[in-house]
Amino acid sequence: MQTFLVTGGIGFIGSNFILKASKERWANIINLDKLTYASNPQTLIQLQDSPGYHFVRGDIGDAELLSHLLKQYQPDAIINFAAESHVDRSIVSPQDFIQTNVVGTFQLLEASRAYWEKLSPQKREQFRFLHVSTDEVYGSLGPTDPAFREDTPYAPNSPYAASKAGSDHLVRAYYHTYGFPTLITNCSNNYGPRQFPEKLIPLIILNALHSKPLPIYGDGQNIRDWLYVVDHCQALYLVLQHSQIGESYNIGGNNEQTNLTVVEKICAILDELVPKPNFNYSSLMTFVKDRPGHDRRYAIDCSKISRELGFEPKEDFNSGLLKTIQWYLSHPTWVEQVQSGAYQTWIKQNYQDRIKVPSPRARS
Ligand code: NAD
Ligand code: DAU
Repeated sequence: MQTFLVTGGIGFIGSNFILKASKERWANIINLDKLTYASNPQTLIQLQDSPGYHFVRGDIGDAELLSHLLKQYQPDAIINFAAESHVDRSIVSPQDFIQTNVVGTFQLLEASRAYWEKLSPQKREQFRFLHVSTDEVYGSLGPTDPAFREDTPYAPNSPYAASKAGSDHLVRAYYHTYGFPTLITNCSNNYGPRQFPEKLIPLIILNALHSKPLPIYGDGQNIRDWLYVVDHCQALYLVLQHSQIGESYNIGGNNEQTNLTVVEKICAILDELVPKPNFNYSSLMTFVKDRPGHDRRYAIDCSKISRELGFEPKEDFNSGLLKTIQWYLSHPTWVEQVQSGAYQTWIKQNYQDRIKVPSPRARS
């Protein structure tokens, strides 16, 4: 069986990828994760005794550790999920984003290239470096603009998006300059189990369950294309297995929704699953001051991955949301662990000064 070095595998998408890889026996996994605030060390605890899984706490920016790990485990592929990933945090403190997303990716590329250059011709030929990136590198769309394609020019608008764009450019350059066998994917918004509740969907679910306000930035009409995380993981595996080196693929759910619709759908599901007498969860919806530089719309044209690799998202948005809400309801300990003091500090910092604004209906 092959060995994958997965970075950031305790986070939301990485942990879903590793669980699927273990279940479907894609490869043995070495998981390198720094365990930042965004990770719960208990997340993959069910794999701790599995012989095909090994966890290492460490930083993708640590060149010495990387060189040691690569020598020890001789991976056939590296899948780089490790990143600072929350746009609002990148607005408040961008430095960590540059450090991990740009400098960290650079260190990972350098160590991986040095390792790859010493491999036997056969292993060299088969080796892959898959960099997991985002649709946010393309910037923002107007209501009738065509969806992002792989050749849409990069126009990142937030420090997060700029740091991911920087890392994408480095990865591309390593292929172009050194022939290093890279792959890049740019995916839309993921949702599903184990997402840290600073992001819209888990934040709304948990706030609603605690009868707290459901903060909607601006007029709630910003649009995201939502993809169930397991579909994303399947797409990544297809890219890893079948793509030509140097390629990039957009991945999306063909599922554009306004934030307001997403929040209303979550409230409607909770009304069914956790009913309260004479109460609708939507009564907690609160319009608050907008995110600075808030991208209006993302949409993904995923015809390339569909045509070339046969990828189609499987999960329907309503059933995916239901599964996601059920996961949060059935994992209260995980939720409690991630809603620690540091989480509360962030919530205070991000929402305390976000003054409430009248709803768009009241404004017009
Ligand atoms: P996440 O924030 O949930 O997880 C990131 C993980 O990386 C955490 O476990 C964290 O501890 C780890 N990490 C952070 N800095 C590290 C470092 N220096 N060294 C090692 N580990 C480190 O993020 P996510 O939502 O799972 O996103 C994973 C990747 O997918 C990111 O690169 C992100 O840009 C990209 N992406 C995310 C989405 C989305 O909707 N969540 C969509 C498209 C692309
Ligand atoms: O598009 C892919 C990107 O999706 C990933 O690269 C990022 O890592 C991931 O965090 C996500 O970025 P977004 O900024 O789109 O996700 P977030 O969940 O933070 O916000 C989704 C939308 O909801 C966005 O328009 C902002 C809005 N929002 C968010 C929060 C946290 C609110 O209205 N209220 C909130 O409290």
